Amino acid sequence: MFHATIAGTGRAVPERVLTNADLTKMVETSDEWITSRTGIRERRVVKEGDILSDFCVRAAGPAMEAAGVGPMDLDTIILATCTPDHLIPGAAPVVQHKLGAKKAAAFDLNAACSGWLYGLHVADGLIQSGKSKNILLVGAEFLTRFVDYTDRSTCILFGDGAGATVLKATKADHGVLSTSIHSDGEGAPFISMPGGGSTFPPNRPETFDRGLMYIQMKGGETFKIAIRSMVEVCKEVLAESGFTTQDVSWFLPHQANERILTATAERLQIPPERCVNNIGRYGNTSAASIPIALDEYARDGRLKRGDLILITAFGGGLTWGAALVRW
Ligand code: UT7
Repeated sequence: MFHATIAGTGRAVPERVLTNADLTKMVETSDEWITSRTGIRERRVVKEGDILSDFCVRAAGPAMEAAGVGPMDLDTIILATCTPDHLIPGAAPVVQHKLGAKKAAAFDLNAACSGWLYGLHVADGLIQSGKSKNILLVGAEFLTRFVDYTDRSTCILFGDGAGATVLKATKADHGVLSTSIHSDGEGAPFISMPGGGSTFPPNRPETFDRGLMYIQMKGGETFKIAIRSMVEVCKEVLAESGFTTQDVSWFLPHQANERILTATAERLQIPPERCVNNIGRYGNTSAASIPIALDEYARDGRLKRGDLILITAFGGGLTWGAALVRW
């Protein structure tokens, strides 16, 4: 039976850097507070006129080149994002058009920060069922367009970017070994952006008067659930495929907060040197964080053929999941 393998990666991040020092001029905060509480030193921020689907196309180029896949080879495009170009149409068909991938079905997937991982689960299922052979899976966010830069508890966290992966059908012993995804809508209020949908549409004054178009987060509550959930789901995918954390070459958690990465790795007894960590330079880029990190570590040679990678994410929904991948 076929399963998915990650055949290529790419990324596109904005050039503009917003440092902690810059933020101290905007809200009452300090470099020391942000660095010690989150590990973030700077994040990338899009400029006026930037379009998310363009960043997806820029990230997809090197991923497709590395995979040896042309636009007409793609049968599916999945774009994990909660900040698409528009509410309608989805951004994935726009990416499909810009790439000239005329044969590909394209759809957006919104699982907030877990979006790329959810996409991997769906893509692997499509490949296993024989319905797809070459899938472009992109995680991309322009979250800073929805950040309230007067709210110091959220504005320090988020950054923008896009990461792309090409998944190919294979029968080889590398690729996706196991995936698992979970949701719990009871925790919906913990991470939300209530405005702009059908409950609080843009034509209602309260949508703007109450700041409902901004990201809201109950950080403390989210923090604890995130660690617990990611530890549990990581154990689940390891057990399912008969591995232990001792076998893991790289642990790649969604880059939400360095303290979350460290605490999750510690509970799984994975040493810090095997934990992928680039949050200091990008902040939390939501669905883009995992594919951006994969591309960085793949291109600089840290990921080696045969490495066992344990990937996990947690985000709004609530949603969370994990995957075990043989590189
Ligand atoms: O990606 C999806 C999942 N997202 C997450 O997993 C994020 C999870 N949460 C977090 O990363 C952390 O909870 C935060 C970084 C958001 C907050 O860190 P914290 O250690 O939980 O701080 P806190 O919210 O408990 O706030 C502690 C204090 C408060 O002051 P008082 O009430 O103790 O006087 C805040 O007002 O820190 C204050 N504070 C700040 N101080 C300086 C909050 N933000 C800032 C700030 N600068 N930027």
